[in-house]
Amino acid sequence: MSEKLIIFDTTLRDGEQSPGASMTKDEKVRIAKSLEKMKVDVIEAGFAIASKGDFEAVQAVAKAVKDSTICSLARALDKDIDRAGESIKNANSSRIHTFIATSDIHMKMKLGMTPDEVVSQAVRSVKRATKFTDNIEFSPEDAGRSDTDFLCRIIEAAINAGATTINIPDTVGYSIPFQFGNTMKELIERIPNSDKAIFSAHCHNDLGLAVSNSLSAVLNGARQIECTINGLGERAGNTSLEEVVMAVRTRQDVFGCDTNIDATGILAASRLVSSITGFVVQPNKAIVGANAFAHEAGIHQDGVLKHRETYEIMKAEDVGWNNNSLVLGKHSGRNAFKSRLSELGVEFESDEALNDAFSRFKTLADKKHDIFDEDLQALVSEAQTELTEIIRLVSLKVSAESGKVNTANVTLSINGDEHSASASTSGAVDATFNAVLSLVDIDPKLQLYSVSNVTQGTDSLGEVNVRLEHEGKVFNGQGVDTDIITSSAKAYVHALNKVMANVERAHPQI
Ligand code: KIV
Ligand code: ZN
Repeated sequence: MSEKLIIFDTTLRDGEQSPGASMTKDEKVRIAKSLEKMKVDVIEAGFAIASKGDFEAVQAVAKAVKDSTICSLARALDKDIDRAGESIKNANSSRIHTFIATSDIHMKMKLGMTPDEVVSQAVRSVKRATKFTDNIEFSPEDAGRSDTDFLCRIIEAAINAGATTINIPDTVGYSIPFQFGNTMKELIERIPNSDKAIFSAHCHNDLGLAVSNSLSAVLNGARQIECTINGLGERAGNTSLEEVVMAVRTRQDVFGCDTNIDATGILAASRLVSSITGFVVQPNKAIVGANAFAHEAGIHQDGVLKHRETYEIMKAEDVGWNNNSLVLGKHSGRNAFKSRLSELGVEFESDEALNDAFSRFKTLADKKHDIFDEDLQALVSEAQTELTEIIRLVSLKVSAESGKVNTANVTLSINGDEHSASASTSGAVDATFNAVLSLVDIDPKLQLYSVSNVTQGTDSLGEVNVRLEHEGKVFNGQGVDTDIITSSAKAYVHALNKVMANVERAHPQI
């Protein structure tokens, strides 16, 4: 039997630190539920002291998720630890993750502390965390550039104080695989009480080596990997969950350990994170990119048709791809709809929610002949995003002619009252956004506008992501429709709703 590799997902904390990837509480809960369904062992839900929004998001995730351990991040400070402890109070299973920098440059320039002070602060914080849970993780931040002797000293002290997981972060993505692996091995060998803790790798991707460094750590004794869906994260991102999980599973002969992850949930989680954050997945991204399993060259296609394993090392369906198989059509009933969504991991909380989603499905089926899983997921995602709307798109009429001025006539319901406006410019989307904006009192700055097709073909649903900045906060909105001008209007209205509700940006950069 192979040893277990713990998967610690930090999409909701380190992933969210990526500029523009801010998520609302409800969005975090939706992502957390999909991680739970995939059997992620530990979900780092946020940095509780960072903001009221972050604290409440951790609390909400701790309440909603039952099967994964919920972790809250804290600097090695009393007030951080107490806030983290409070945020996970209601979790079925909880963890506090506390960190302090250990590289010379960080201790001197950032903390202004001596190494002795850093050790005692780490010990004090780990001990304080034991008041809230016996599951404590300690990270020497910037370990990738820290002195190994000092790491041995502080980690031994942290384990003695009660740390049960020791995470080795390559905070600035500076490490090289053989070196990171050697450091992991040396720490485990030299620290006298290392057998009392699980060692973990937390790698950033600045040199494109996050996954390689994490795997090298596993080969050298790490039994937890910290990662994010789609590799989301600050700068070049974090270790990608889907890549490490599939590398370890596909090459059991090399790693000799495996995760508990139900990989068939990977694609759905990837799409959810991409749609909520507006961070589009590149087509050639391993495992979850649109081309990851597409064979174009004739010689490859021929080989795969004769014997799949000639060119395929994994099965697309094992990570959630379904070959775009037709799942439902115009005549499918409510039960077929419900049970297909249940297979995709979507459960409805009430009959009303099911009816609403089903009626969206029927409307779509009238416009689009073939309905795929991706369409269903997009529809449900849209239904969930509309739950807390202040403004709603009632109707949109656009006249567009090439080379001419385009005009958009928009009607919105704002707090229940209908208001209409029109605007004209050279582009239909621009005219639509201007018309919508003229009906509200705010003037946010558009940071991102992107369109992608949900399935193949010109009758595909078009998904639009809009990112707005307002008073220093960032708000993402999504919209789907078979008409991309309508998707654009929906996405814009969705983001404006968040601005108007003044959803606090749950962003842990403090
Ligand atoms: O990259 C890093 O050092 C971190 C720590 C908080 C673990 O994210
Ligand atoms: Zn990090």
